[in-house]
Amino acid sequence: MSTRPLDGRHRTVVRLGNPVLRERAQEVPRERFGTRFLTDLGRDLLRTMFEDNGVGLAAPQVGAGVRVLAYYVPGEGDRHEVAPQVLVNPVLTLLGEPTELGWEGCLSLPGLRGMVPRHPAVKVSAFDTDGNPLTFEAEGFHGRVIQHEYDHLDGIVFVDRMRDMSSLMFEEEWEQYAKEKDLPMEV
Ligand code: NI
Repeated sequence: MSTRPLDGRHRTVVRLGNPVLRERAQEVPRERFGTRFLTDLGRDLLRTMFEDNGVGLAAPQVGAGVRVLAYYVPGEGDRHEVAPQVLVNPVLTLLGEPTELGWEGCLSLPGLRGMVPRHPAVKVSAFDTDGNPLTFEAEGFHGRVIQHEYDHLDGIVFVDRMRDMSSLMFEEEWEQYAKEKDLPMEV
């Protein structure tokens, strides 16, 4: 993958139980845009995400309680690739109702999968690590990843969003029993 960033360093991903995952992360002050602190954090999030085989990672997951998240959506089937992106101080406008069901996992809850309802699309306004404003709309899996990562900035993890805990399962069992099936569920 040519877009894969090779700089930055791998950081340890904290797991559920670490209080940082349950706290509201702080806004990044304007004076920190473009600083080494922020550019390194963005690069580290991307590198850690790729090396741990995730599609998204939020700063609290590496123990940094600031409103920064990273993601990368690999192209698959009819799903378009979305280049690696770091968002600082993102603000989301949720579009539609949270009725789109899809499987999620989380590097902070390793080995678990669950069916999570999300909004079908989201409007995003944020900054890059240099402070340049970014505004765009994301739908489908792209929108799902952003909603999942954004939740981490408010101390929320995917299991909090599940409406039917019977779909919570370990990855091996998920591969065996559920991966290819859309479990019928009420939301
Ligand atoms: Ni997560």
